[in-house]
Amino acid sequence: MAEIFITRRVFRGVIDILEKEGHTIDINESDRILPARELVKRAHGKTGLICLLNDSIDSVVMDKLPSLKVISNIAVGYDNIDIVAATQRGIMVTNTPGVLTETTADLVFALLLGAARRIPEADQFIRAGKFKNWQLLQPHMGVDIYEKTLGIVGMGAIGQAVAKRATKGFDMRVIYFSSSRKERAEKEFGAEFVTFNELLSLSNFISIHVPLTEKTKHMFSTEAFKKMKNTAILINTARGPVVDETALVEAIKDGQIRGAALDVFEEEPSIHPELIKMEENVVLAPHIGSASIETRLRMAKMAARNMVQGLKGNRPPNLVNKRLDSRKETNK
Ligand code: GLV
Repeated sequence: MAEIFITRRVFRGVIDILEKEGHTIDINESDRILPARELVKRAHGKTGLICLLNDSIDSVVMDKLPSLKVISNIAVGYDNIDIVAATQRGIMVTNTPGVLTETTADLVFALLLGAARRIPEADQFIRAGKFKNWQLLQPHMGVDIYEKTLGIVGMGAIGQAVAKRATKGFDMRVIYFSSSRKERAEKEFGAEFVTFNELLSLSNFISIHVPLTEKTKHMFSTEAFKKMKNTAILINTARGPVVDETALVEAIKDGQIRGAALDVFEEEPSIHPELIKMEENVVLAPHIGSASIETRLRMAKMAARNMVQGLKGNRPPNLVNKRLDSRKETNK
């Protein structure tokens, strides 16, 4: 029986899973992200920590939580946790892959369609009482999506789910840049492996699906925007810092690209003030890639199950720090 701290409100089902195992739970019932000092105070003496992607769990926090054995992140991304530090301290870290793949790919298309066909603007137009008659030269003419070229950066599970929608639903040509070639994407969706520069120059739409690492930070910089088509639309549902937001604002202002549809931001929850003003070419969403009721519930339950297994000393199904796992196996 262990004590677990949960950094934010969760579904009842999560608590049920943990309580059924006899664990004691303490929850931050507010919607507030706890500053490190408060988080440490609440999590002190606990063996398990269930956290969200906006809780920063670094080595300083870990050092102040010597009882910690398992960190279960309710997210597929885990750039908020120092994995090396956790591994060095023998702390298991888990995430929630797979269950949000299709939901996130759906949102990519919602954003892509919204930006290309200018849906948010059209919605505002109607609400402002401006829809007087149908016109051939409608003020909200957008651009076509079908048969266009979609560039996917990072062809993991979500990238492939996006490629499926693009080719099967919209007859798009899919090109991709990834750390390795993806046979399934090439065979099933005809995705073509290209260099990053080729992807930038050939794509009508670019969708980002890489994790945030030192390598991918600001992958989309002034230099990258200069290589893109001036009709291109950038979609980011991965992590904000992969895009240099200031460079993006400049690129849109200078007409280097047509626009962007963003679900993630460099400094969430703050958003570059210029992006907020760009109602004509920018669609914004508050990091809702996985935000369907079904998926969020699946993610949270998966996180609870990871926690249960980790606390039993088993290998949790979604262990992130594999090195820790192999060390444990060699020690057996
Ligand atoms: C969402 O951004 C996630 O990483 O799950």
